[in-house]
Amino acid sequence: MSVPSAPSVTPSPNVPSFQQMWRELAPVGRDSGSHGYRRYAWTPADTDCRAWFREQAELRGLAYELDRNGNQWAWLGDPLAGDAVVTGSHLDSVPEGGAFDGPLGVVSSFAALDELRAREATFSKPLAIANFGDEEGARFGLACVGSRLTAGQLTLDQAHALRDADGVTLPQAMEAAGHDPAAIGADPERLARIGAFVELHVEQGRALDLSGDAVGVASAIWPHGRWRFDFRGEANHAGTTRLADRRDPMLSYAETVLAARREAAIVGALATFGKVSVEPNGVNAIPSLVRGWLDSRAADQASLDMVVAGIEAAARESAEAAGIELSVVRESFTPVVDFDHALREELASLLGTDARSVPVLPTGAGHDAGILSGSIPTAMLFVRNPTGVSHSPAESAEEDDCAAGVLALADVLEGLACG
Ligand code: GLV
Ligand code: MN
Ligand code: MN
Repeated sequence: MSVPSAPSVTPSPNVPSFQQMWRELAPVGRDSGSHGYRRYAWTPADTDCRAWFREQAELRGLAYELDRNGNQWAWLGDPLAGDAVVTGSHLDSVPEGGAFDGPLGVVSSFAALDELRAREATFSKPLAIANFGDEEGARFGLACVGSRLTAGQLTLDQAHALRDADGVTLPQAMEAAGHDPAAIGADPERLARIGAFVELHVEQGRALDLSGDAVGVASAIWPHGRWRFDFRGEANHAGTTRLADRRDPMLSYAETVLAARREAAIVGALATFGKVSVEPNGVNAIPSLVRGWLDSRAADQASLDMVVAGIEAAARESAEAAGIELSVVRESFTPVVDFDHALREELASLLGTDARSVPVLPTGAGHDAGILSGSIPTAMLFVRNPTGVSHSPAESAEEDDCAAGVLALADVLEGLACG
């Protein structure tokens, strides 16, 4: 953990533009074949993203700070003064992720600060740009680890028990990347010094495309969680075991995947099995274990409970009939987030015009802003995504919309931190 020194408020005349920042960050962690990103927490790609963040902070004369949970901060003004306005997002990615989910918020934050300096805005509150660690949870299976730790929503025992696919624990991974894990944990003093957090993010749906708006404000995040289903059967020879003699867990898993789709459709919710691991994973072997991860989300808690209960019941019924042992573990859960009404109304009024009000929309995607909303007032801005595709290399946003996002964020930060 490093303590920030007093920042210089004079920007370098040579700060990189939005486009330059985007170009610099673009190749980091990108697969040359698929063009998908693999920026997993505490890997070399993550380290490179972190180095980029630090460089951007220093180029702008901001005080750089790495907090005890591995979140990065770039401060303008006194970090200890209180009532700070914070913006930012994350730089890590899902497996084969897109370029915009996370980085758009971080790059736009630096660009918005540059815009405010060009406007010669006078800051009456400290301003910080943050890069929260391990938002996607691609490596350790739990999303928003950096913000959860800071907000006290992840106990030390839980954090120490997190392991990646190779059995490396979170503290071991941090240590290997040069971050001392000894002090990880809740950081209420830090959060107490923040008056508002605003995260800009690419929209992960098509609501703005359909309404014809470049920028929107978030109203809420659907409750969502991840459940691990372990189906245990009996490994055996694929070429010699009679169908009647098999205890094949793949069949119960397959029936459960279909049940997930059915149950979600009944209540208008979402349910996805997007990750599966099979043991022994041989073409000519009946599996002994199929482990599938369910991601489910709904507009309200009752609907989510109903969907997950329905999927679990279907899985149990199928497993029982086939002599398969089933265990279901909820690995993570985030309750509904209703973003701070006063802050969201302030954003809407800062961005709306006489002719047009800014759209205010809910999302099914999780964010650090959602985690932090339990501790401090938070809000989000969304930038139009013309296809709605996200968590894929096809994720996109038009250059003009990114520019509109930067100006909107600058307007919001000016309204909250200046004058
Ligand atoms: C994060 O992007 C999530 O919604 O899973
Ligand atoms: Mn994401
Ligand atoms: Mn994101």
